[in-house]
Amino acid sequence: MSLHIAADKGAIAETVLMPGDPLRARYAADKFLENAVCHNEVRGMYGFTGTYKGKRISIQGSGMGQPSIGIYAYELMSFYGAKTIMRIGSCGAVQPQIELRDIVLAMSASTNGGNNRNIFKGMDFAPCADAELFLTAAKKAEEMKLRVHSGNILSSDNFYDDDPEIWKLWAKFGVLAIEMETSMLYTLAAKMGVKALAICTVSDSIVNETLLSSEDRERSFDEMILLALETAVEIG
Ligand code: HPA
Repeated sequence: MSLHIAADKGAIAETVLMPGDPLRARYAADKFLENAVCHNEVRGMYGFTGTYKGKRISIQGSGMGQPSIGIYAYELMSFYGAKTIMRIGSCGAVQPQIELRDIVLAMSASTNGGNNRNIFKGMDFAPCADAELFLTAAKKAEEMKLRVHSGNILSSDNFYDDDPEIWKLWAKFGVLAIEMETSMLYTLAAKMGVKALAICTVSDSIVNETLLSSEDRERSFDEMILLALETAVEIG
């Protein structure tokens, strides 16, 4: 057991998918994994381990925000021996060509949070995805005929930002979308020698203030989980 995950050592797979919402972890495990077993219920942050096409995979909720994913991802890497972590989450698009239900592959993740600056003594670390995972996911997405955008995203520490127009600054520099977890995941993965990638579905557009219906949310969540699972199988 680690501090926040009550699983035995060995009960969690080396490949872990991390949705923000623990109920989505349950949904994904029920729908896509074979022989899924719940390995964690502490704080309601459910995690499940099973197999997909014969490959052992865990799906562990991360919670919302960088500190929360930081706790769970760190314990998965340091205590449970996770070697590959894929975040499967939602994001808000800040570019007009990105439509609801599209998928964003985060090649890199900027942040307005202070974690990297604290670690790097005021200098700027550039957290990026694992190249093999990213290239594999991009290839699989093409095979699955998904609409995909690849590039830089913003991991914000504020869902309700004090300045409602601040997204325009990031958009001007080509940032594709905003979410709240990936920069922390990539920084931790870099330190721990773990492969990481964030695959996000576009749940809302900050450009034109539109939002997915709950049915469309579910459908696009399914596409994203399948993309992550197929990527995991492909990298072996
Ligand atoms: N902002 C931050 N995080 C998000 C958003 C957003 O608009 N949409 C989904 N996750």
